[in-house]
Amino acid sequence: MSGRGLILGIESSCDETAASVVERGARTLSSVVASQIPTHARYGGVVPELASREHLRAIVPVVRAALAQAGITLADLDAIAVTSGPGLAGALLVGITYAKALAFAQNIPLIAINHLEGHIHAVLLNERESTPGASATGGPGLVSETWETSEANSPAEGSPRPSPEPALALVVSGGHTHIYLARPAHGSWSYSLIGRTLDDAAGEAYDKVAKLLGLPYPGGPWIDALARYGNPQAVPFAFSQIKPKLHLAGKAPRTKGAKTSPIASLNPHFLFSFSGIKTAVLRYVELHDLRPEAHARAARFFPRKSTHAEQALDLAACHPERAQRVEGPAFPLSAAAQTLGAPSFPQPLAERMGNLSSQPASTFPKPPKTKEEALALCPQPTLDLIASFQHAVVGDLMKKTFAAAEALGARRILITGGVSANRELRARFTTEAARRGIHILFPTLSLSTDNAAMIATAAWPRFLSGDFAGPDLSADPSLALGR
Ligand code: KG4
Ligand code: ZN
Repeated sequence: MSGRGLILGIESSCDETAASVVERGARTLSSVVASQIPTHARYGGVVPELASREHLRAIVPVVRAALAQAGITLADLDAIAVTSGPGLAGALLVGITYAKALAFAQNIPLIAINHLEGHIHAVLLNERESTPGASATGGPGLVSETWETSEANSPAEGSPRPSPEPALALVVSGGHTHIYLARPAHGSWSYSLIGRTLDDAAGEAYDKVAKLLGLPYPGGPWIDALARYGNPQAVPFAFSQIKPKLHLAGKAPRTKGAKTSPIASLNPHFLFSFSGIKTAVLRYVELHDLRPEAHARAARFFPRKSTHAEQALDLAACHPERAQRVEGPAFPLSAAAQTLGAPSFPQPLAERMGNLSSQPASTFPKPPKTKEEALALCPQPTLDLIASFQHAVVGDLMKKTFAAAEALGARRILITGGVSANRELRARFTTEAARRGIHILFPTLSLSTDNAAMIATAAWPRFLSGDFAGPDLSADPSLALGR
């Protein structure tokens, strides 16, 4: 224990293994993200079994790299924070089990963090790091308000503080599209759920539409890049208003987070539904006979699987229990991976360290950067379709978020989660917020998608208030945030 307020954050809820050291919830000493994108890309989405296996491979080198980058050892840590949900059960358990073992061995507190709260704290961390003189112990804006009752924010450090103002937070990612009202409370934050999706998350719609069009996973960055060269008015996609009848019936949403979210108590004007636009794109593709074009595109990214080893790898991904039977005991999954040039398991630490990056492998295809590159990938009508899809999704996110801000009198909006990296989303939200005189904040691009700095940051107020997890901490795949 260093007493410097050093928290190691660990994140493994989906397809990124991440570790980060953050000092007093305000200064990032290191942030390491090992992305599994190349592993899942050919399946058009995350394969849970592969995700767990990749987390197991990466967790030790990623944590070691985060400590090394921060220039500290385990003995310097004051606490360990880990994502406990929501997310994939097997993936979460890898991070939780490792975090528990480290905390036990070092005899330091373990802090459980909700992944969605982490995304909200990514914005707060950015604000602290980008505001001169701001830190978790003082400074203007949301930052100072956060810690006003914490021990770190003693009167000697600049009280009295301004009265805290709630902020509206839109968490928009591959798994979630949720609006919260976040209020500073007792040195920490409390959250009220204001709106959410009834079915797919916005990022999920991006990923599914991309897959339909033969673009790689995750689809968001591809659609973002291609939409710039299309006509957003070409296809008039429309979002219909969620019917109060459905919402008053108190039906459980079809999303993974269905367990606890009180849909019946939410204003239907703040509810989202993205399954309709996905189906509308599918109909458009079929009506305009775009399937062959999409298949040809997909084949360019992932040439037809032909080898025995590739088929074994695919089978193992979808049906791990059947893979051994087909290949026999002498041909385990790692052998298939090795034949394909993928790292075998276990892989030497030094090699794994070389692979740590927030970017996919250098050989992995990258979204186009120019109109010529975009047109080489998609004909103009497809670019128009993509631009129209994105325009409609961003428009719907804006309409409901600003309506909620107005209804609640919120003067600050935080937009966070993977989809918040989207260029059109940032530009249009920023323009509209300026028009309404609302303060809007986004995380930096690297903090928009999954990372562990946001987990270590969200843990700081819990560390100060002694809100620690016990040894029985387990994964909660549908953990809800707020009431
Ligand atoms: O926050 P995140 O890394 O993981 C979850 O918690 O889900 O978000 C990943 C999601 C994916 O659906 C991905 O397609 C989407 O964020 N995404 C984007 C962009 N970058 C990532 N969506 C739209 N535009 C982007 N630039
Ligand atoms: Zn996330």
